[in-house]
Amino acid sequence: MLTVNALDHYYGQSHALRSVSIDVPAAACTSLMGRNGVGKTTLARCLMGLEIPRAGEMLFDQIPLEKHPAEYRAAAGIGYVPQGRQIFPLLSVEENIRTGFFAAKHSSNSIPQDIYDLFPVLAEMKNRRGGDLSGGQQQQLAIARALVIEPKLLILDEPAEGIQPSIVQEIADVITTLSRERNIAVLLIEQKLPFIRKVADRFAIMERGSIAARGGMDDLSDELVNQYLVV
Ligand SMILES: Nc1ncnc2c1ncn2[C@@H]1O[C@H](COP(=O)(O)OP(=O)(O)OP(=O)(O)O)[C@@H](O)[C@H]1O
Ligand SMILES: [Mg+2]
Repeated sequence: MLTVNALDHYYGQSHALRSVSIDVPAAACTSLMGRNGVGKTTLARCLMGLEIPRAGEMLFDQIPLEKHPAEYRAAAGIGYVPQGRQIFPLLSVEENIRTGFFAAKHSSNSIPQDIYDLFPVLAEMKNRRGGDLSGGQQQQLAIARALVIEPKLLILDEPAEGIQPSIVQEIADVITTLSRERNIAVLLIEQKLPFIRKVADRFAIMERGSIAARGGMDDLSDELVNQYLVV
């Protein structure tokens, strides 16, 4: 579904992505791991057209994303849940979900029922303001907003960050449903190992802008965890 080849990105003189290559196939969850500041969010922002890489290619369904403007991503079927959620605190829950349509210039504006089936709490709270929700509920809202366009690829940037364990479990269940039952290609940027082990089928580890290791979850050894993940 998504293939990234030899991507390079700089912030000024600082070389933030160094020849990054990663595959994100459909119907599986690929976890991108790595300590703070290694370049995980930078990769997501390049994929979304929010940063312009200096070199390399990003093929989505064989289409080179780097040749298209940022608006193209959602329209083509890429959903994005940014780090820190970035919901609109003053808009209602329902209005927040609807903003997902604008990103894709979608003709429909009725929220598919299955979004509320995935997140029943959002149905209960649809007239409340986004800012009144707990952190975990806001994360669910950000995921719901990304799902209205029925993406083929969903990129989530640290969705378990600062969230209570019960909601982390609910989010894990949703990610599993999306990847294994709805065949979505999921790129999960994450540092929390128990969460990753619950939902991921494959992993890649970043270290200082490069991919240092990759494999199926069975290949994620204690050595790799100690070398690249434990702080
Ligand atoms: N807008 C920017 N301008 C300059 N440097 C930046 C910018 N954004 C990020 N960086 C730097 O690029 C490097 C990679 O940052 P990035 O946010 O991609 O890391 P990350 O792996 O997502 O970290 P975290 O786990 O803390 O979210 C860091 O050294 C960071 O300080
Ligand atoms: Mg980040």
